[in-house]
Parts: sequence; C-alpha cells; structure tokens
Amino acid sequence: MISDVAIAVVTGGGHGIGRALCRRLHRDGVHVVVADIDKAAAEAVAADVHGTAHAVDVANETDMAMLIERVETDTGPIDLFVSNAGVGFGDADGNAASRHGGMHQVDDRWETCWQINVMAHVFAARALVPRMVKRGGGYLVNVASAAGLLAQIGDAAYTATKHAAVGFAEALAITHGDDGIRVSVVCPQAVATRMIGIEDDSDAMEGGFGGNEVDGILSADEVADCIVAGIADERFLILTHPQVSTYVQRRAADHDRWIGGMRKFRRRIIAAKT
Ligand SMILES: NC(=O)c1ccc[n+]([C@@H]2O[C@H](COP(=O)([O-])OP(=O)(O)OC[C@H]3O[C@@H](n4cnc5c(N)ncnc54)[C@H](O)[C@@H]3O)[C@@H](O)[C@H]2O)c1
Repeated sequence: MISDVAIAVVTGGGHGIGRALCRRLHRDGVHVVVADIDKAAAEAVAADVHGTAHAVDVANETDMAMLIERVETDTGPIDLFVSNAGVGFGDADGNAASRHGGMHQVDDRWETCWQINVMAHVFAARALVPRMVKRGGGYLVNVASAAGLLAQIGDAAYTATKHAAVGFAEALAITHGDDGIRVSVVCPQAVATRMIGIEDDSDAMEGGFGGNEVDGILSADEVADCIVAGIADERFLILTHPQVSTYVQRRAADHDRWIGGMRKFRRRIIAAKT
C-alpha cells in the first residue's frame, strides 16, 4: 500500500510487468495512466483499471513531454512515474557487437535499446523533476534488470543499456534526493512475460528462451507486488529475486571468477540448445 500516491503513470503498461503493476496500483486506490506504444493494449488495461490510456513511444522525447503535460493538465500532478517499457533483441550470430537482433528483427538494436532502455528514463526525468521539485517531491521508478547489475547472456546491447539505466537511476537519486525526489531502480531476473517468450495470460511459469528458467521465473504479479513493497519502503534497489544480491556480491569480490562462471553458464545454455 502506498499512501501518498494518487496518480501514477506506468510506461509499457499494456503488457507484462507494467500491466500487472497497473492492476496492483489500481487495487491500492491509485489512478493509473497506462502509457504504451501498443494503443489497443493500453486501452484494454486502462478499461480494466478504470484508468486512462495514452499511446506513446517512450523513445520519442516530444511524445514523452506531451504525455506528462497532458496527464498533469487533464488528470492532475503525477506522484509516481514508472519507466517500465523496455526491449531486448538478442545478439545476432552469437556476436556481442552485432547491429541487428538475433531473436527479434530491428534495424539497429543498439540505438533502439539505448533510446528505450535509457533515454526514455532521461526524458521522463527531464520533464518531471522540475515539476516535482516545485511541488515538494515525487517518485520515479525505473525498471532496469538484473542484467544491469550482472549480465544477460546472449544480449550485449540489453546488458549495456540496463547497466546505463542503473547508473542513471543512481545519479538521479544522488542529485535530486535532497530536492524530495525519491528514486527506485527495479532489477528482476526472469519474469513470465512476452519478453522471455511467454505470452500474456498464458499462466506458464517455465519455458521461454535464453536460459531464463535456470534460476526460477516469477510471475508479473509477484514482481508488481515486490515493486509496490519497495516503493512503500522507499528502497532504492528493488531486487525481486533475492539471489541477485548474492551474485552482485560475488561479482564485486572476484570479477575474473565471475566472468569464468558466466562463460561456463553460457556453454551450458548453448549445449542445451543443440
Ligand atoms: N521479463 C523479464 O524476464 C524481465 C527481466 C528483467 C527486466 N525486465 C524489464 O521489465 C520491463 C517490462 O518488460 P516485460 O517483461 O513486462 O516485457 P513485455 O514485452 O511484456 O512488456 C513491455 C511493454 O513495453 C511496451 N513498449 C515497448 N517499446 C515501447 C516504446 N517504445 N514506447 C512505449 N511502450 C513500449 C510494449 O508494448 C509492452 O507493453 C522492461 O524494461 C524489461 O527490460 C523484464
């Protein structure tokens, strides 16, 4: 339960973690603005949570500025903005530096991941922080990934941009904490959504691709509950999968050993596929 949040915006609210979070926030009495590039999905979720739908491409700064302006004018001050929309395309041909995606087609996956996984968070903060500071505070939640603390095997662009997203969230928290801006960064491992090859409403809790099942898959609802608990505690780092904390410590203690372990894990994933 988050008592001081009346209005929240969730990007990527049309599916997966964002959709579950919209539903959870609605149950907690929050008016939810569902923002997604998939207009039909945003409208369906908004109808479900008696909220408002906005079609937006978070990679486009004008779209993001207009979204924030329209919500604040038509609905009211945004107390909580969740930058959740994110994408990953996979390495093509096992090449970490490949331009194109291996699992999903895209012209330039580096540019696309950079714009959606990082710059969208910057665009939201650029438009919102001055407004929030003026009214005495606000909450920004940025959904990154455990890949932003560790690595996503088979997706270098996702790994690099999620690391950047964690770095930006830290910078926001340090720079604007004294202004009353609260910041959390969410770093999940596998979650049963379309991102790992599991369709909405499928109820599947295993399968998908990329070796995600190795360490346990959470449902989007479980992750939404963790996010809300983290917000209620005003915790900067929201780890939905507790083992990530151990991995982060092991990586920091001996980086070479960590890389060696990840290579071994990669070999296992490749062997399982062939
Ligand atoms: N599923 C996982 O295993 C997992 C693990 C760690 C982190 N994450 C992160 O969680 C977040 C949500 O992912 P998910 O698993 O729910 O995936 P998902 O694919 O189910 O949902 C992503 C949503 O973002 C929307 N979106 C994509 N590009 C957009 C754009 N340019 N503008 C607006 N909306 C856009 C999609 O339409 C979709 O509704 C992402 O940031 C992802 O990186 C997911």
